[in-house]
Amino acid sequence: MGDSVGPHSALRSVDPQVAEAIEAEERRQQEHLELIASENHCPATIMDVTGSVLTDKYAEGYPGSRWYGGCECVDVVETLAIERAKQLFEAEHANVQPHAGSQANMAVYMAMLQPRRTILGMSLAHGGHLSHGHSRNFSGQLYEVVSYGVERDSGIIDYDEVRKLAEQHNPALIIAGASAYSRVIDFEAFRDIADEVSAYLLADIAHIAGLVAAGVHPSPVPHADFVTATTHKTLRGARGAFILCRKEYADRIDSAVMPGIQGGPMMHAIAAKAVTFKLAMQPEFRHYQEQIVANARAMADEFISRAFPVVSGGTDTHMFLLDLTDAGLSGEQALNFLACANVTVNKNAIPNDPRRPAEASGIRIGTPAITTRGMKEDEARTIAQWIVEVLGASDPAQAAPSVKARVLDLCARFPIEH
Ligand SMILES: Cc1ncc(COP(=O)(O)O)c(C=O)c1O
Repeated sequence: MGDSVGPHSALRSVDPQVAEAIEAEERRQQEHLELIASENHCPATIMDVTGSVLTDKYAEGYPGSRWYGGCECVDVVETLAIERAKQLFEAEHANVQPHAGSQANMAVYMAMLQPRRTILGMSLAHGGHLSHGHSRNFSGQLYEVVSYGVERDSGIIDYDEVRKLAEQHNPALIIAGASAYSRVIDFEAFRDIADEVSAYLLADIAHIAGLVAAGVHPSPVPHADFVTATTHKTLRGARGAFILCRKEYADRIDSAVMPGIQGGPMMHAIAAKAVTFKLAMQPEFRHYQEQIVANARAMADEFISRAFPVVSGGTDTHMFLLDLTDAGLSGEQALNFLACANVTVNKNAIPNDPRRPAEASGIRIGTPAITTRGMKEDEARTIAQWIVEVLGASDPAQAAPSVKARVLDLCARFPIEH
């Protein structure tokens, strides 16, 4: 086993257990349909850069101003990442060091807010993210939190409620952005509300960064004081995050990231972010983002036509929430049945969900990863039909194997190209 040849032969001889787990994961990805909205399959170039010698380098500080010697090469890389992020999103300042989306949000809070100040964000139960004020997250423990949600009937953000809560609670910061919301976010409306109560506006575009970069979703940059985003979701690149802001806040944001909440930047990840931004500037990236949305719309319409409701009645983005109440299944059950058909999703609360979060009444479905494999509307509709075939069956466990055989065939026709 240890001296075999193959893509991970060197690792196999050092650590066969990890090598086997990686190879198994490669097979799993090839043989499963990845519908988790926050996941994607990044290009081989991004993998190469992430595995480069830059992983060895310590570079506390920023380009041209480091605490360590030998930073001339990584300065080139970080400067490229910063300049490309600014160009791609038409922003005045970029910090590309946050290790992840949660750290990007933490840096903005730390830069601008004293502990116990009030933040107003979307509740997790209605589609927000943990780092927008959940009680078990640092954001909910350090700050006073007020949460808004979506309208009961339409599933659309209740902008009147946002305004009312802002007037009542006078937040120092309003967060616009979500993990499980399928409609265009009206950043201009959030700006108006923030101005009315003199609050800062943070747009968290972790999910929709690729759509925004390609002009497929309106950009928050002209409206928000701060924009946080991840590079590994719709942007289809490096694992990590970045912050955009107006020039006037640049120094506060930079020092909140380092030394505020992080030490040495991960230069291999920053180099991969630079490549991510370059790839996102290519014309084909726009086509890819348009196809992601076309695929999500085709799937959502197919579900609706087969009496599987979609929260808010459709999607403008890369994802949507399937409401399983009428199907009589929990999200947890659906996830497990679909896993037997080699279809990967995550369970997700729907707005005003009567079930506990660990069960949930919905699943979240996203199309970035299947679109990366080259699938288009026909395949998207077919996948939706297969999901209905499993979840709508009187015995879903019995329906899954036949769907799995077709999923394997589809995956073989659309391999992940690394
Ligand atoms: C809206 C939003 N913000 C922040 C994050 C956090 O990103 P990370 O998982 O990289 O910390 C996520 C992750 O899914 C997200 O959906």
